Amino acid sequence: MSSMDKDKQPSLTMGPSSRGGSELKKLKANSSRSLGWTIVLLILTTTLAIYLFPEHSPLQLTPWTISSSHQQNKHPFAYSHYWGAYSPYYAVEEYRSPPEGCQVTQVNIIQRHGSRYPTVGPALIMAYAVTKLQNVEVYLDSGLEFIRDFTFDLETDELVPFGATESSVAGAEAFYRYRHLLSRDNIPFVRASSSSRVVNSARNWTEGFSIASGFQYNPILDLVLDAKRNDSLHNYCPAIGSPDSQTSTWINIYAKPIADRLNEAAPGANLTSIEVYYLMALCAFHSVAKATASDWCGVFDEEAWKGFEYAMDLDKYYGTGYGQTLGPVEGVGYINELLARLTSTPVNDTTQTNTTLNASPATFPLNRTIYADFSHDNQLIAIFSAMGLFRQKTPLDPERYDADPSRTWITSQLTPFGGRMVVERMLCASAKTQTQTLTDGTQYVRVLVNNAVQPLEFCTGVTADGLCALDKFVESQGYATGGGGGDWEKCFE
Ligand SMILES: *[C@@H]1O[C@H](CO)[C@@H](O)[C@H](O)[C@H]1NC(C)=O
Ligand SMILES: *[C@@H]1O[C@H](CO)[C@@H](O)[C@H](O)[C@H]1NC(C)=O
Ligand SMILES: *[C@@H]1O[C@H](CO)[C@@H](O)[C@H](O)[C@H]1NC(C)=O
Ligand SMILES: *[C@@H]1O[C@H](CO)[C@@H](O)[C@H](O)[C@H]1NC(C)=O
Ligand SMILES: *[C@@H]1O[C@H](CO)[C@@H](O)[C@H](O)[C@H]1NC(C)=O
Ligand SMILES: *[C@@H]1O[C@H](CO)[C@@H](O)[C@H](O)[C@H]1NC(C)=O
Repeated sequence: MSSMDKDKQPSLTMGPSSRGGSELKKLKANSSRSLGWTIVLLILTTTLAIYLFPEHSPLQLTPWTISSSHQQNKHPFAYSHYWGAYSPYYAVEEYRSPPEGCQVTQVNIIQRHGSRYPTVGPALIMAYAVTKLQNVEVYLDSGLEFIRDFTFDLETDELVPFGATESSVAGAEAFYRYRHLLSRDNIPFVRASSSSRVVNSARNWTEGFSIASGFQYNPILDLVLDAKRNDSLHNYCPAIGSPDSQTSTWINIYAKPIADRLNEAAPGANLTSIEVYYLMALCAFHSVAKATASDWCGVFDEEAWKGFEYAMDLDKYYGTGYGQTLGPVEGVGYINELLARLTSTPVNDTTQTNTTLNASPATFPLNRTIYADFSHDNQLIAIFSAMGLFRQKTPLDPERYDADPSRTWITSQLTPFGGRMVVERMLCASAKTQTQTLTDGTQYVRVLVNNAVQPLEFCTGVTADGLCALDKFVESQGYATGGGGGDWEKCFE
């Protein structure tokens, strides 16, 4: 479970191989064609949107609309917010402009790669569970008939075409939102961790940015950080623990009745609870791969989806979040880089940053206004937790999803595909916000996660609109500036 989005996966040693090689080729040909069209469409919708909604970021609209052929469930995509880390990107809130009198002066984006195929381990379990259901003699529920003709033809690890589009849409959105920060010699500085889907997300982002600017500003992927070496965009801690006990406890609770129901409807399938979890994941992966709602989605009702979502919440919380002693420390390197940019001073870090790269203005400039970094969900979770975002009143209960009604740890709102944190630095003239008066000429920081303004309750004097004075923000980041309080060393004990 903890390896859901990691690069290393068990090697392909058992289980059914995916069928239909020629179909796979056809699919690939089709998808690159449709990607071309998508980009054309992107340009058109973008242009159109400027005319229609000049005040708005034009790309709030989900770039796809889903229809399902499945009868049992009219709106399966109403449930895509329950897909946790496999949820397509969605804005949690509409973007709020900075308070009156404030001007954004710098932007730091860290973004997860777009929608992808499953990684190898989960793909094997999914294919195996599908085969189990296909080998039964009879379905006693007509809602399962589609399985008979289903072909498991998903690739692994890479971005799906829709995921590439998600990334270019994000690039275009960043251009529209922050174009006042650009000049001919001040364009975004872009880095990515080295896995292929992350690199491709960064490149699609820069492409979307260029297109939206009418090719006036053409950022490139400036730097790829080797995930096997010191890489602030990739989680690495050899001694870290695993969330497996919490997730399997919960999966055995929520998915057991679903497994029982399916095993009754497909006598002899003998599905386990874990396999049910992966069949639910298949709904998400199959949908993003085909850019249309998968029939698998209709097999599960809303209560089942709530269970699935919570399994993912536990996986992240106990994976690299607050529930994992050595989770947050993996975000320390990035936070120290962020503080360096915000304050225009050299990086001071003793954890996983590459000090050689960060010492050079060519590979770690401090005079840009837009920085964009591309990474993975587990690393974003570590960064949120190192910073102090989404701290929960009580640790997530592995046996009940409703134990804490005020829980804000909801993975699809933290790290969906293409999920992002944006740290805006702004300069404010004296102005009244909702409840406070801003001090003239002071620099503030505001943090948005998937567009939602974060309350930054850890910042002394934070305003009701989430504005934190820059010096107070730096002060609040003692865990990172203190090198992780000894946690980093524990990673190697
Ligand atoms: C940033 O500094 C470098 C020299 O270190 C310079 O070449 C470059 O033009 C500067 N960029 C901006 C946007 O000021
Ligand atoms: C965008 O991502 C797709 C899918 O991974 C990739 O094939 C394509 O080359 C990327 N585009 C750019 C401009 O790199
Ligand atoms: C730091 O980055 C340089 C340049 O990419 C690379 O050669 C070196 O191996 C990296 N060092 C570590 C420890 O990551
Ligand atoms: C079902 O699977 C379980 C565990 O994988 C196994 O112990 C059991 O024998 C199987 N039952 C049937 C009827 O195949
Ligand atoms: C890489 O990280 C290790 C462990 O924190 C550190 O000791 C080393 O100096 C780093 N190397 C570079 C080139 O940054
Ligand atoms: C760098 O951080 C350490 C704490 O980790 C601190 O003791 C030291 O003074 C800092 N150096 C600078 C130049 O700020």
